[in-house]
Amino acid sequence: MSRIAVFGAGYVGLVTGACFAELGHEVMVRDIVPERIEELRAGRVPMHEPGLEELLARNAGRLGFTLDVEEALDGAEFAFVAVGTPPTYSGDADLSAVWTVVDSLPKLEQGLTLVMKSTVPVGTGEKVRANLDVRGLGGVAYVSNPEFLAEGSAVRDFMHPDRVVIGAFEPEHAARVAALYDSIETTVVTTDVASAEMIKLASNAFLTTRISFINEIANVCELVGADVMDVARGIGLDHRLGSHFLRAGVGWGGSCFGKDVSALKQLAGNSGYHFQLLSAVIEVNELQKRRLVAKLEKHLGKLRDRSIALLGLAFKPGTDDLRDAPSLVLASRLLAEGAEVRAWDPVADASHLLHGVTFCDSFLEAVQGADAAVIVTEWPELVGLLVPGVRDSMRNPLIVDGRNLLDPAAAHAAGFRYEGVGRPSLTHQAPVVAPDPDAVAQ
Ligand SMILES: NC(=O)c1ccc[n+]([C@@H]2O[C@H](COP(=O)([O-])OP(=O)(O)OC[C@H]3O[C@@H](n4cnc5c(N)ncnc54)[C@H](O)[C@@H]3O)[C@@H](O)[C@H]2O)c1
Repeated sequence: MSRIAVFGAGYVGLVTGACFAELGHEVMVRDIVPERIEELRAGRVPMHEPGLEELLARNAGRLGFTLDVEEALDGAEFAFVAVGTPPTYSGDADLSAVWTVVDSLPKLEQGLTLVMKSTVPVGTGEKVRANLDVRGLGGVAYVSNPEFLAEGSAVRDFMHPDRVVIGAFEPEHAARVAALYDSIETTVVTTDVASAEMIKLASNAFLTTRISFINEIANVCELVGADVMDVARGIGLDHRLGSHFLRAGVGWGGSCFGKDVSALKQLAGNSGYHFQLLSAVIEVNELQKRRLVAKLEKHLGKLRDRSIALLGLAFKPGTDDLRDAPSLVLASRLLAEGAEVRAWDPVADASHLLHGVTFCDSFLEAVQGADAAVIVTEWPELVGLLVPGVRDSMRNPLIVDGRNLLDPAAAHAAGFRYEGVGRPSLTHQAPVVAPDPDAVAQ
């Protein structure tokens, strides 16, 4: 069993640390935020991620948390980098946290393998290698080992990955990292560092391309009277295509997709190639959020003084992550149109990000007196919208379903006007009631 230091106690770092401990390794996780380390030492998990709390508790004997670099590296054979790589204003990845970790590495007695789990632009490994060599740390091995877990299923994804990708400058360095995953049954893809870095960026770019593609198909479906749910099913059954990531909706978000697609586009541009397809993928995603506002206007006219219930704020169900969540764009657009926004999410707290929004403790509270209920995140409990109590509590029983969570016929039968994404609008719907200016908070 090995001793592993993990830099970064975020979604990836914590899951990586907890899962390696579960596999029997001794793990020390280092972060720079004192409150985060205190919480973890006290046995509290600073984010919502199914299964993580239990995993941390079960492996507490093999897991430590520290603010101190030396303590993290004490006896460590591996140092995993799992710090954030957010976008800069130019769309490139901000590698400052990565470089802080690399720069903090001291000369060590023992041999160390530095493993990059953070998503970084192609060429980062070469630069880190050169930096280490210049600083007399030529003995530190460097390996790229990008992470593919998805929030909401992160523990399962780590323990049962579709593949483990390992890029190294020397075959024995790759073998060392591969050995850490020995007890996980999966395909290990061993390659050079640049290719490993590209596999991660290209995977996310492909996933977002599929979503933007089905969203464009959905938009055409609306014009020609087809139902994108059936269309996606029919497409997905083709074994050459598969059914994943063919769900039409308000568009992709989250901490990774936007920044990784933009980083790949910038990387291509900086290298002299205009990646046209990715430009379209990004633009389609932006427009998709705005189409939802247009749908509200189609039913309600101008949105000034309309009360809109925004249901679901996290970028997807199963997480409290709000980074790049479509809900943030939608809430801001609705506020800009003069609407009152009443928001609900079972776990995500957006009160520090959205000013002027009323946050509600339940979706039933959010829809009280609302002119529309907008499903932004497909939390399963929202199927509970289709009950007479909800319909009667709304000023206008309109549901705009940005995730195609509900069955349009069931919504119609329950007395709602219903608008999904890429699905035929139902005719003969209830008339729209005008806003009562006195009833809406200004
Ligand atoms: N979140 C995902 O679903 C996911 C999936 C695959 C890959 N990734 C990639 O993994 C990386 C980490 O993502 P995340 O979502 O876990 O980020 P995060 O923001 O949740 O966590 C990053 C952590 O690193 C800490 N940190 C910053 N500087 C540090 C330093 N010098 N030393 C130690 N800790 C430091 C931060 O305080 C924070 O706790 C990113 O590159 C991301 O693109 C993320």
